[in-house]
Amino acid sequence: MFGKQSISIKYGLIFFSTLILISAAILVTVQYLKVGMLRNEAQAVASQVVSFRSWVAKSGMVWVDKLSDDFHDFLAETPDGEGKKFYGKNPALATRELSQIANQSSTHATFRVTSDEYRHPDNKPDEFESKAIEMIKQNKKTQFVENTSEGTYRYAQPIFVTKACLKCHGDPEDAPEAVIKKYGAQKAFGYKEGDVRGIISVKLPDITLKDMLPHFANPYTIVYILLAVIINFIFTTQLIKRLKNLTHKAEVIAHGELDTPLEFNSPKHSNDELDHVYNAVNLLRNSMKVVMKRLQ
Ligand code: HEC
Repeated sequence: MFGKQSISIKYGLIFFSTLILISAAILVTVQYLKVGMLRNEAQAVASQVVSFRSWVAKSGMVWVDKLSDDFHDFLAETPDGEGKKFYGKNPALATRELSQIANQSSTHATFRVTSDEYRHPDNKPDEFESKAIEMIKQNKKTQFVENTSEGTYRYAQPIFVTKACLKCHGDPEDAPEAVIKKYGAQKAFGYKEGDVRGIISVKLPDITLKDMLPHFANPYTIVYILLAVIINFIFTTQLIKRLKNLTHKAEVIAHGELDTPLEFNSPKHSNDELDHVYNAVNLLRNSMKVVMKRLQ
C-alpha cells in the first residue's frame, strides 16, 4: 500500500519518522544528562557532609557552652570551670543537627547520615536507604546507589569504618563512658576497619519532562527545526517538479513531437540520477528520430 503512495507522501512520512526518532534520541540523552547533573549535585552535597564530619572528628567532638531549644542533644558534658558546663557533640550528632537545619530551610537538597545499625532513632533508614545499604554491603566497590521515583532523586554513598571510628564503634570496652551511658553497649559496636558503617543519603527534586519541555520551546530549537523542514521541503518539491516535467516531456515525445527540448546536465558532468534518466530519455528520443527517418 505504502509503495503506491506519491514520493511526497513517502518522503514526508520518512521525514517525520526521522524527526521523531531524533527527538527520542535527544530526549534519552537529556535524561542521562539530567541524572548526571542530579548526581553531581548530590555528590557535592555529600562531600560537604564528609568535610563537616571530618572537621568535627578531627577535634573528637565539638563543645558548646549552650544548648539551644532545637538542638539540646549532646553526648558528653564537662564543667567549664566557672560553674557552668560544656556539652560535647560527636560527629554523627553534629551532622544530624546540621542536616536538620538544612532540611528545614528552603534549600532544595536534603541530606542525612543513616545506617542499618542506627543508634539514634532519628537516623532510622527508610526503604530506599535500607536497600542502598544492603547493596553497598553486598558489593563494597559500589560507589553510590541512585534512584528516581515520584518526582524525587535519591542518592546514597557509603561511609566506611576507619581506625578513628573504632573507639566508639569497635569493642564496647574501649568506648567512652558517655557513649555507653547514652546508647548502651549493644548498638552499633563490633565494626572492623573497612566495614560499611552507613551511608550519606541525599534527596533532590527530580527534573521531570514537564520541567524540561519549556526549554525545548526556545527560539533557537524552533528555528533549527523550521530550517530542517524548509530545506527538506525545497529539495523534495524540486525533485518532484523535475520528475513531473520529465514525465510530461516523455509523453509529448511519445506522441510524436520528437523535437521537444529536454533540459538536463550531461551525465559526464553530473552525478544526479535524474540527469541520467533525462539522458536515457534523450537517447531513446534520438533513436526514435533515426528510426523515423529510415521509415520515411
Ligand atoms: C566519640 C565517639 C564516636 C566516634 C569516634 C565515631 N562515632 Fe559514629 N556515632 C557515635 C554516636 C554516639 C552515634 C549516635 C548517633 C547520633 O548521636 O546521632 C554515632 C552514629 C554514627 C552513625 C549514624 C547512625 C547511627 O548510629 O545513628 C554513623 C554512620 C557513624 N556514627 C559513623 C561513624 C564513622 C564512620 C566514624 C569514624 C570516622 C564514627 N562514626 C566515629 C559516636 C562516635
